[in-house]
Amino acid sequence: MKIYFFRTKNQPIMSWCEGVKGVLLDVTGVLYNSGPTGGAAIEGSIDAIQRLKTSHIPFKLCSNESTETRANFAAKLTKHGFNITSDDIVCPVPAMVDLLKQENLRPHLLVHPDVLPEFASISTENPNCVVMGDCNTHFTYSAMNAAFNTLLSMSPKDRKLYSMGGGKYYKDGDDLVLDVGAYAKALEYACDCKMVVCGKPNKLFYDQAIRLLGVNIEDCVMIGDDIISDVGGAQALGMKGVQVRTGKYRAVFDEPHSEITPDGYVDNLAEAVDLLLSNN
Ligand SMILES: *[C@@H]1O[C@H](CO)[C@@H](O)[C@H](O)[C@H]1NC(C)=O
Ligand SMILES: *[C@@H]1O[C@H](CO)[C@@H](O)[C@H](O)[C@H]1NC(C)=O
Ligand SMILES: [Mg+2]
Repeated sequence: MKIYFFRTKNQPIMSWCEGVKGVLLDVTGVLYNSGPTGGAAIEGSIDAIQRLKTSHIPFKLCSNESTETRANFAAKLTKHGFNITSDDIVCPVPAMVDLLKQENLRPHLLVHPDVLPEFASISTENPNCVVMGDCNTHFTYSAMNAAFNTLLSMSPKDRKLYSMGGGKYYKDGDDLVLDVGAYAKALEYACDCKMVVCGKPNKLFYDQAIRLLGVNIEDCVMIGDDIISDVGGAQALGMKGVQVRTGKYRAVFDEPHSEITPDGYVDNLAEAVDLLLSNN
């Protein structure tokens, strides 16, 4: 038996890639996979980034990384073979610095020593808030207590706690390790205050990326491997969200997913860029 599909004229098949004017890309699981020996680029991604770079569609890499500067992060990607500079990257630290400036805040910083230089333009005297990032081995008893005491010295209604990410734990090489969210929760609990997360999938964070792209949010697509934070988070803000079948993607859980319906699924970044460039 032959089955014929007819497509009525003037009734185009709408696809996620039509009308896209700006692209946000998650990094880990989309450009490369992390691993004990520094990880490896995902096949086709290096070339896909280059094609996107020479196209007219602006893009930004959106990462949760808060333990290194954008320059170091860009250098890491360059070592993997990607043609990337710091300007291509949006991560929580610059978004946080922006927010501190806008709100005239003076933070007590509980951040990794490697990212301290990024806060150089911010006064930390007489702090009126606490800002935390992933500090891995620098999350010491005394560092946590110093942040705790800073918050406690403020009147309960004025306690401002910002966290660059709200993750519970992540994979570092072969080990699972506590993420900044777990430490921030400890301070939340001890100080009876509510943390504000500046990182994916928070609006604060995506807003900065969209501003840098210079396009309307509804004309943007976010491509990621985390169906909740990347895809669902982007859709909740009015962007399109596309799921890649690389990184932490698991067919049994993510396709279909119990809560999130992505605007599209692609095998990898290379396929996403193919579709974007042939439809725009
Ligand atoms: C990186 O991309 C730019 C285009 O944006 C191009 O001019 C440059 O040659 C590329 N560099 C490498 C090393 O491929
Ligand atoms: C990044 O941090 C957000 C915000 O707290 C968290 O919910 C999310 O799971 C993280 N996303 C990834 C991909 O690690
Ligand atoms: Mg990812």
